[in-house]
Amino acid sequence: MDRFIIRGGQQLFGEVRVSGAKNAALPILAATLMVPGKVRIENLPHLNDVTTMLQLLGRMGVDVLLDDTGSVELDATRLSSVVAPYDLVRTMRASIVVLGPLLARAHEAEVSLPGGCAIGARPVNLHIDALERLGVEFEVTDGYIKGRAPDGLIGGKVIFEKVTVTGTENILMASVLARGESIIENAACEPEVSDLANCLVAFGAKIDGIGTDTLRIEGVPELSGGVHRVIPDRIEAGTFLVAVAATRGSCTLTHCEPRHMGAILLKLQEAGALVECGEDFVRLDMEGRRPRAVNISTAEYPGFATDMQAQFVALNAIAEGNGRITETIFENRMMHIPEIQRMGALIDLQGATAYLTGIEVLQGAPVMSTDLRASASLVLAGLVADGETIVDRVYHIDRGYERIEEKLRRLGANIERVRM
Ligand code: UD1
Repeated sequence: MDRFIIRGGQQLFGEVRVSGAKNAALPILAATLMVPGKVRIENLPHLNDVTTMLQLLGRMGVDVLLDDTGSVELDATRLSSVVAPYDLVRTMRASIVVLGPLLARAHEAEVSLPGGCAIGARPVNLHIDALERLGVEFEVTDGYIKGRAPDGLIGGKVIFEKVTVTGTENILMASVLARGESIIENAACEPEVSDLANCLVAFGAKIDGIGTDTLRIEGVPELSGGVHRVIPDRIEAGTFLVAVAATRGSCTLTHCEPRHMGAILLKLQEAGALVECGEDFVRLDMEGRRPRAVNISTAEYPGFATDMQAQFVALNAIAEGNGRITETIFENRMMHIPEIQRMGALIDLQGATAYLTGIEVLQGAPVMSTDLRASASLVLAGLVADGETIVDRVYHIDRGYERIEEKLRRLGANIERVRM
C-alpha cells in the first residue's frame, strides 16, 4: 500500500496541465457499450477508476485499444456478457453507470451492489425507480441488481425527487435507445452530465435541453461510432488552485474549462486570490498573502461542488479568520475533519457543519485517507504543515487524481510516494 511523505512549507509556483474529467470519462466509457461499432474517446485521465471501467468493459466482450496519448478505441460489437461482477464494482461505485447502457443495448443487466467511497449510505434507489418507469423489471438477489426489459425499453417521463448525477446519466443512456420520447425532469446539470449527453449526440442520439434540468430524448433504433473528447476535470483543477492558494503561491492551470469552475473561483477570490481566466486557462496569484477564511455550503451544479468541500476545509484551517463549511449532498462526508484536527486545526464539527478558526500553520502528523476527496484535503494540509506528514492509503487518491505527487512536485512541493 502506497503512502505519501510530505514536508510542508513550500510555496507553490508554476504551471499545471489539467487532465480529463474522471466523472465524465466513466459514464462516457460505459455509454460505448451501446454502440455496435468503433468509437474513439480522447483526453482520458490515467486513473485507477478508468482502468477499472476499461477492465469491466473488457469482461463484457468490448475490444479495448489504449494508446499512449490518453485516447482509447472501443468496439462493443461483440458484447458477450451483461454482468458487472463484485470484484470490480466493489472498488468503484460508479460502475453502476453500466446499468442503463446494458439495459438499453441487451435489455438485461446484472450489476453487483456498489462499493467505492465510504461516504454515507449512497443508495441507488433513484436509478432503479427511474429505470422502472422505462419498463425495466428489477430484482435484487445474491448482492446483485438484476434488471430485465424483455420487450425493450419504452420511453417515459421521469421526475427525480432528488438530483442525482449518475442516476441522471443512467436514465439518459437508457432513454437514448428506448422506443419513443423520454423526458427527465429535475435532471442533474453537472458539466459531466452534459459531456455525456454531447458524446451520445456524437454517436447519433437525439437529446434536447443539454445543460438544463429537463432533458428530452427521442429514442433512436441504434447508435453508431464516433469520436468524443472528454472535458477537463474541474475538481482536479480546483484542488490544485486551493493547494496554490493555501501555500500563498501563484500558478497557471492549462487545458482547463474555467466556465465550469464559477463557484470554486468565486470562493478563491473571496479568500483573497487574484484570478484571471482565459478560454482554457486560469491564473491564480496570492501575491504572498495568507488566505482569508470563507463560508461554503455545498450544492448541486452550478452551486459549490461537494467534491471540493474537503479541500476548502484544509484552506480554512490555515486561513485568517473564521469559516463555516456545510455539507448538504452526502451524509458522513466529514471524515477528513478528525484527521486535520490531529494536525492542529481548530474545528468544531456540529452535524454537517464544520466551524473553523484559522491558525497560521498546521503540524505534520501521520494521517489516514478515508475517501477520494478527503485524501486530497490531507495532502493539502500536509503542504501547509510544519514538518513531516505521512498520508496513508493513497490508493483512494489514485482513483481520482492523475500522478498528483508529480504535478505537485513540479510546482515545488516536497512530496514523495513510498511503496510499502
Ligand atoms: C456523483 C459523482 C461524485 C459527486 C456526486 C455529487 C460520479 C462518478 N460521481 O456521484 O463525485 O460527489 O455526484 O455531485 O459522477 N441518492 C439517493 N438515491 C440514489 C442516488 C443518490 O438517495 O439512487 C443520494 C445520494 O446518497 C446523495 C445524493 O443523492 O445524497 C446525490 O448523489 P448522486 O448525485 O447520485 O451522487 P453520485 O452520482 O453517486
